[in-house]
Amino acid sequence: MKKITLLFVFLMTTAIFLAQEQPFYATMDATDAIELQKELPDDIQIIATKQNQSAVFISEEAAHTLHRNVLTHGPGYVFKASKEKALQAIEPKVPKTERRVLDFTINQDAAVAEALDLVEAQNIEDQILELQAYGTRYHTKPQAEQSVLDLKDKWEAMAQAANRDDVSVRIVNHVNTGMPSAVMTIEGAENPDEFVIIGGHIDSTAPGSGNNTAPGADDDASGISTITEVARVLFETDFVPNRTVEFMAFAAEEIGLVGSAEIAEEYSNNNVNVIAYVQFDMTNFPGSANDVYITTDSYNSNDLNAYLIELMEYYNGASSEHEITYGTTACNYGCSDHFSWADNGYEAAFPFEASFSESNPSIHTSGDTYDVTGDAFKAAKFAKLGLEFVIETAKSNTLSVSEISGLDFDFIVANKILNYKIKNSTDRLEKMAVIDVSGKQVLTATDLGQQGTISLESLSQGFYVAVFTTDANKKLTKKFIVN
Ligand code: BES
Ligand code: ZN
Repeated sequence: MKKITLLFVFLMTTAIFLAQEQPFYATMDATDAIELQKELPDDIQIIATKQNQSAVFISEEAAHTLHRNVLTHGPGYVFKASKEKALQAIEPKVPKTERRVLDFTINQDAAVAEALDLVEAQNIEDQILELQAYGTRYHTKPQAEQSVLDLKDKWEAMAQAANRDDVSVRIVNHVNTGMPSAVMTIEGAENPDEFVIIGGHIDSTAPGSGNNTAPGADDDASGISTITEVARVLFETDFVPNRTVEFMAFAAEEIGLVGSAEIAEEYSNNNVNVIAYVQFDMTNFPGSANDVYITTDSYNSNDLNAYLIELMEYYNGASSEHEITYGTTACNYGCSDHFSWADNGYEAAFPFEASFSESNPSIHTSGDTYDVTGDAFKAAKFAKLGLEFVIETAKSNTLSVSEISGLDFDFIVANKILNYKIKNSTDRLEKMAVIDVSGKQVLTATDLGQQGTISLESLSQGFYVAVFTTDANKKLTKKFIVN
């Protein structure tokens, strides 16, 4: 073990640049670290453990083993640039509560309705095919950098075609990878200091020298193409956000969230007020019964998760032309770039393509190609959810509260009693359903009139969404927590 330690130190001092080529510091689940140490005792040093997270010094071989394990829901790791950063990362987090703006509302019906009709799966398919055609986007390969530069051009052309001088695209260079990231910004018209961000990673991987062939169609050309379609539709509808909206394509996620970690840390250091971050990583493999799986890992925001569910209940119900069915799943580790945002104290969520165990088995191989997922029908649903999220959190500067369901509605939950009241309208409430986070209907009530109370005594602790339907078939949704 001592010899290996010396070798590690030697390697670290001779080459410091590219994480994957040399042993490096990382954090990972403590039990995974112990398992890995059993399997590869000479390739991992556990430096310290706090709660269930370990700071480790790990070899390239062990990192590859982790990646292989991920295919059968194994552990993951998060790259750290130094021992100090690894140790710091396992310290308990102090939430940056002063940044949180949890008043997520739904009232942009007209803008959302217009946007949903414009989503085209074909655009997503075209871009996935473009991205997989690079052959590899592994972070050390020239094709990876080229794909980012080309994406910048594509985003710029889209903004230019829409005559947007409130849009800019920039390249972000990194310390721990030679590959850059790309960021497109729509500056907020009213509150430019408040940020709403959607992102995904543009790099890909496959084992060993197989990195020469790493098409990464689902992981994660699908996510990049999904957020590009969101932007395209926003431009087509001339959406001018009140808050600043950003689209991010991260470098080097596959070697430990490198690009997103540097950007999220920089935002945090500069006290950038990110209201919410949503990750799109793998949006097109129809492996499970539902369309979208909300990940419920502890570092994700429960509020943001409940809000995404509320959006789907409101805009994508069973009778809707834009139906989206959903369930929940979990990675059980920091499995994608949203972790970098959560790790820096921001509200983050990760809606995913399938339940974790039924997700695309071809990822991280030369077989992660578009034909495995079929058409982009599935990713189009994620683009719709992305549009609902961006339009409702950033809010339109031109359209105010919707005409469709702009009802004045009081809704309060306290002591397991729900109070409701419709004001300034003759509309009456026909029925109400309470949905839990797995999408199950757990309570219903009918004939509610204009005001009243409903007992929630039967509900256990958790997050719920109440969906009210009026006699004019308008929908009102409210999320609430039972403590
Ligand atoms: N898209 C995957 C993460 C993923 C895979 C989520 C399967 C759910 C199911 C992502 O690109 C990835 O490979 N992440 C790494 C994370 C790591 C390097 C920090 C992983 O899971 O090993
Ligand atoms: Zn991956």
